[in-house]
Amino acid sequence: MPDVYNWQLGREMTYRLDPGAGQWQFAAVFNTNRCIACQTCTMACKSTWTFSEGQEDMWWNNVETKPYGGYPHHWDLKTLDLIEQANPGGQTWQAGSAGPDAPYGVYEGATIFEAAEQGRQQAVGYLPTDEEWAAPNLHEDAPHSTKPLSEGVALPEHRTWFFYLQRLCNHCAYPACLSACPRNAIYKREEDGIVLIDQRRCRGYRKCVEQCPYKKSLYRPNTRTSEKCIGCYPRIEGSDPLTEGLPMETRCMAVCPGQILLQGLVPVTETGDWVEDLDNPLYHLIRESQVALPLYPQFGTQPNIYYIPPRWVPRPYLVQMFGPGVDEAIAGYERPTRRTQAVLQLFRVSQKIIFKFDVIEGEKVSEVNVNGQPLEVFDDTVIGYGRDGEEIVRTTVIEAHFERPAQYLNSI
Ligand code: SF4
Ligand code: SF4
Ligand code: SF4
Ligand code: F3S
Repeated sequence: MPDVYNWQLGREMTYRLDPGAGQWQFAAVFNTNRCIACQTCTMACKSTWTFSEGQEDMWWNNVETKPYGGYPHHWDLKTLDLIEQANPGGQTWQAGSAGPDAPYGVYEGATIFEAAEQGRQQAVGYLPTDEEWAAPNLHEDAPHSTKPLSEGVALPEHRTWFFYLQRLCNHCAYPACLSACPRNAIYKREEDGIVLIDQRRCRGYRKCVEQCPYKKSLYRPNTRTSEKCIGCYPRIEGSDPLTEGLPMETRCMAVCPGQILLQGLVPVTETGDWVEDLDNPLYHLIRESQVALPLYPQFGTQPNIYYIPPRWVPRPYLVQMFGPGVDEAIAGYERPTRRTQAVLQLFRVSQKIIFKFDVIEGEKVSEVNVNGQPLEVFDDTVIGYGRDGEEIVRTTVIEAHFERPAQYLNSI
């Protein structure tokens, strides 16, 4: 087994396959602070890709209410438990050693690959029952509470809380689904890092379903094959006529009314490491300002969907889910730099993928109080550029607002 460097863990780990040469990696940032669980993303995916017979219970994109919801039920707790059984008490981070190649410190516990029984498994995992795949939105809006509701909702941390987690395949750098398949039916594309199942090779062994820790490979009974999110690759390739050949954001991302989603491509080296690209909006949010964090980085697959954590949720829960960078990420989101503030304005302003951004500084317009400290607000202009360097969007940090004249109040 080759040793690979997993920058989310801050260390090397073993992985069954050579990850291969890449050029770009599909990635996205989700701002959980803004998701309203409208499920528009879920339905956009379903109406595009999974509306056929045999796909009734198949949701490549889903939005679940944490802490109790899950599709399949309790997918994350079950995988965390399997790792814990193999390595009791060992799942800790040495956060103090953070550096450029280890932004969250060093994970000293076991990944799903390292927790597996050597010689018998590639990774720990389990096959959910049919009941666990049913009711994908079970426990919607059910809060967890350690206090009466009236006392439990004051920042900085609510004691009565829930939040929405949008999920799709993470198009992992080290996909557990891919390494699990005995038929070598799963592959990761060099041009964009999207992970696909070759339907002609798949024989329905379901090792991918068992070993994907995020449970994003799903079995289809009438074809006896597994299927998964395809990253809307025709849109990424620029095949949609709307963008005339330019790479386009996925269906689930492009429709979001909460404007929580920014998707794109980040440049990677031949070994899969991220190339420093300070003008790439995703690189800025994930690697430079570090306001967006991976989902369960300790699983070890180096997932490529990143989350700005919900700022009202108790930190121990968030640290288990997003790793030890949570405090810094929330602090950076609450008091963003001018560049971070500008990039946050790029969410959902274009269907074309933004590869670079630039900021033109504007006037100071106000000063607000954040956590007892003043924060200056500037009306900067942010420009987004497409793959070929052409300007595709220009917007300002201060959004225009209009007040309905008094004579038109209640006129609808
Ligand atoms: Fe959340 Fe956006 Fe999906 Fe609505 S469309 S559920 S706001 S991610
Ligand atoms: Fe494979 Fe699961 Fe990673 Fe998607 S999230 S690439 S299905 S291991
Ligand atoms: Fe579905 Fe495309 Fe979103 Fe994947 S990227 S969940 S295929 S809409
Ligand atoms: Fe392989 Fe999964 Fe098909 S393990 S054979 S891709 S069901």
